[in-house]
Amino acid sequence: MPQRKKYKRILLKLSGEALKGKREYGICPETLDNIAKQVAQVKEMGVDLCLVIGGGNIFRGVSAATNGMSRSNADYIGMIATIMNAIAMQDALEKIGVHTRVLSAIEVREICEPYIRRRAIRHLEKGRVVIFAGGTGNPYFTTDTAACLRAMETDCEIILKATNVDGVYDKDPKKYKDAKFYKELSYTEALQKNLKIMDSTAVSLCRDNELPIIVFNLNEEGNIKKAITGQNVGTIVGG
Ligand code: GTP
Repeated sequence: MPQRKKYKRILLKLSGEALKGKREYGICPETLDNIAKQVAQVKEMGVDLCLVIGGGNIFRGVSAATNGMSRSNADYIGMIATIMNAIAMQDALEKIGVHTRVLSAIEVREICEPYIRRRAIRHLEKGRVVIFAGGTGNPYFTTDTAACLRAMETDCEIILKATNVDGVYDKDPKKYKDAKFYKELSYTEALQKNLKIMDSTAVSLCRDNELPIIVFNLNEEGNIKKAITGQNVGTIVGG
C-alpha cells in the first residue's frame, strides 16, 4: 500500500456534477467559485496542479446511449461538455489570479490549446494550473480514464478523486447505515468487489502503472489540502 506523503504534482479529478451545486443541471457560479478558491489554496502551497472535470452536469453520454443515441455520438457530446466546464473553471480561476491553460484532446483551437504532452508539462513547470478537457478524445472512455492517462503522461504522483462522500465504502453510505468505510484499498480489491471508485479501465490503468488514487469528500472545506499534505483523509487506493 502506498504511504501517504506530501505530493509535489497532483491531478484533481472533479465530476461534472460537482459544478452544479444545488441546481438540476449546468453550472452553479457560487459552487464554481468555491472550488476555484480551494484550487488556488493548493496552488499557493507550490504544488503543481492538473485538473480534469467531467461533463455530467451538462450531458451524460451513457444515459443518452441507453435512450437510443449511438454511444459514440453520445460520448462526443459529453466530451464537448467537458470543454465547457473547463472553460468555466478557467474563468473562475483567472478571476482570482490563478494562471491556467486549457488543453483539449479534441481540437477547438479558437477556444483552447490542443493537448500536447510536452506543452502541458512546460505549463506546469511555469506554475500554471493545467485543465485537461475533451476526455481522452475517444468515445467509450470516461473522464476518469482521461484523468489517469493524463496524470501518468505528466508525471503526477497521485490522483485526487473528488466525491460527495468521505471515501470508499462497501455499499452506499447514503442508503445503508452499516456501510463499511475503507481507509485503504488495493486496486484488485476495488475491481473485484466492484466498488465503483472509477470505471474498471481507469482503475486497471492505475494498477498497471502503480499510480495511487485518493478518493475524498470535496464538500468538506480543506480536504484537498489535507490530502496533498499526507494527512488521513478519504480512502487511498494503491498497492
Ligand atoms: P509559453 O510558451 O510558456 O509562453 O506559454 P503560453 O501559453 O503563455 O504561450 P503562448 O504564446 O503559446 O500562448 C499565449 C496564450 O494563447 C495562452 O493563453 C494560451 O492558452 C493561448 N493559446 C496558445 N495556443 C492556442 C491555441 O491553439 N488555441 C487557443 N485558443 N489559444 C491558444
